[in-house]
Amino acid sequence: MYYSDDIIEEVRQRSPIVDVIGSYVHLTKKGNNYFGLCPFHNEKTGSFSVSPGKQMYHCFGCGAGGNVITFMMEYENLSFQEALQSLADRAGIELPKDDGRQGSREERDQRAVLLAIHKDAAVYYCHVLRSEQGKPGLNYLKQRGVSDEMIRAFGLGFATQHSTALYQYLRSKGYTDKQLTDSGLVTVNERGAHDRFWNRVLFPIMDTNSRVIGFGGRVMGSGEPKYLNSPETRIFDKSRNLYGLNTAKRSREKYLLVCEGYMDVIAMHQAGFTNAVASLGTAFTSQHGMILKRYTEEVILCYDSDGAGQKAALRAIPILKDAGLRVRVLSMTPWKDPDEFIKNLGADEFRERIKNAENAFLYEIRVLRNSFDFNDPDEKSRFFNEAAQRIAGFSNEIERNSYIEAVANRYGIDYGVLRNQVSAIGAREGYVRREAYPERPKTLSGKSRGKDEGIRGTERLVLTGLSEHPEYYPAVRAFLSPGDFSDELYREVAGLLYDQLDHGKMSPGAILDRYVSDEDKCREVSAVFNAVLPEDTTEEEAREAYREAVQRVRENSVREKGKHISDPLELMNYLEEQKKLKENGFKL
Ligand code: UTP
Ligand code: MN
Repeated sequence: MYYSDDIIEEVRQRSPIVDVIGSYVHLTKKGNNYFGLCPFHNEKTGSFSVSPGKQMYHCFGCGAGGNVITFMMEYENLSFQEALQSLADRAGIELPKDDGRQGSREERDQRAVLLAIHKDAAVYYCHVLRSEQGKPGLNYLKQRGVSDEMIRAFGLGFATQHSTALYQYLRSKGYTDKQLTDSGLVTVNERGAHDRFWNRVLFPIMDTNSRVIGFGGRVMGSGEPKYLNSPETRIFDKSRNLYGLNTAKRSREKYLLVCEGYMDVIAMHQAGFTNAVASLGTAFTSQHGMILKRYTEEVILCYDSDGAGQKAALRAIPILKDAGLRVRVLSMTPWKDPDEFIKNLGADEFRERIKNAENAFLYEIRVLRNSFDFNDPDEKSRFFNEAAQRIAGFSNEIERNSYIEAVANRYGIDYGVLRNQVSAIGAREGYVRREAYPERPKTLSGKSRGKDEGIRGTERLVLTGLSEHPEYYPAVRAFLSPGDFSDELYREVAGLLYDQLDHGKMSPGAILDRYVSDEDKCREVSAVFNAVLPEDTTEEEAREAYREAVQRVRENSVREKGKHISDPLELMNYLEEQKKLKENGFKL
């Protein structure tokens, strides 16, 4: 860590969490807290809470949680230092300059090292592309019609046949084998070190802040695999990054174009469509959807026109809709992908196709239509049934009616007949979508689940209660010590909280500073301070519930201690203690 605790404290104190998060997420005040839609998972009702009192955020849906610094790290994909810098800039605080004395490269935040390695690697590969050795790569790009301007803008590079070139270069820059292995760009084993990429044109993958976090490499000519990508690392999460978004987010168009590949993005940008991004062949995820939603209201899918592209579009549509985006689908026929389309028909024709891109629902119905043979009356009526089913999935009547009209017109069926069919389904099953894509929020780390969840839940109640009622502290302290908590992390957090309360400056948000580099721990600590207290209870009932919780934690601790006693005398003393505990109990 290279900033003192005092500086971190100052930055945190001058970055009110409601103001900072409020500039990214729409928050509404409810009681002492603020609520909004969680930016870390997909939801329609706000379970994301921000507490000005605790200076923490916590999502009751997916378990995300932390303080203002971890929020910036997660939301903007920043390292700890960068998050601190960004908040300091916002608050007008000058951070002390890093004079190099405060830590060697190894001690720095691992993410920062990985980012530095990727930056150096990207510069190196660019350099190679422009050198004598890079000829094959440059020729390949020229032959595919990529302009110099695009080569520069996308930072394209080249890895030669020489399989240790990058490794040697990065070692000369002072990185260790461990760091280079962690970056995924190099493997080191008994047989020596090897670069991941060789004889490939390289496409640096950047995050939305234009920092290189991985690479995609296209083989020269025909080899397998055609594209080799970086593995997932601490800085590269495929399900959360879209190629080209760092540039596309600045486009002034009201929609974003989503395609499959690197070359498609580049071809579109070169033709002036600078609002194009790619999901890189990997499955489109709900995180992708939510990230897009930060930058636009509408997505136009430009997937390949083959079967795989069609499947990918059908998968992406509900995910995008769930993220709250309007979706249309662009037709590439008779060409395979945007790259080929633009080369053959040009930018104007592509612009025309954007204008005519089809409403996603009608696209789905059209794909459905193609799987039925209309010459067979039975198949025809099955199609209309299925279409009616899907239309009945719209809860909004106006929307339903306009789709009934559109489908009736397109496929030659009487409007009234189709409407009756939709109404019948609605009356029977309700107007709800049936092919739901279940939300899959990240779970808490495995060890927090299981049979001990009961006592841990009670322990969370005790610590949450303390953070909301510091006036309970003197009584609690006299009865319960941090060592009474059942889990190492809870004991540590309780110790830190007691320490703060002893000094009269309680701040759960500050406790989180210790855990910023470990997302799972951050989540657990945020859960510790966000236990759900029973609602609609009188103050007296709440007090009694709290009293019982403290008592239970202490009893559990004494019981656990008893399990390890073998000495008879000690055991007698212990039983005595347990009896007294039952009789006297905790008073509040
Ligand atoms: P395509 O095979 O459609 O790519 O895969 P492309 O851009 O048309 O390829 P070119 O034009 O022959 O160079 C679409 C995307 O899927 C991912 C890549 O991100 C690619 O851009 N992909 C494809 C892989 O990751 N690995 C592969 O082996 C193939
Ligand atoms: Mn292609």
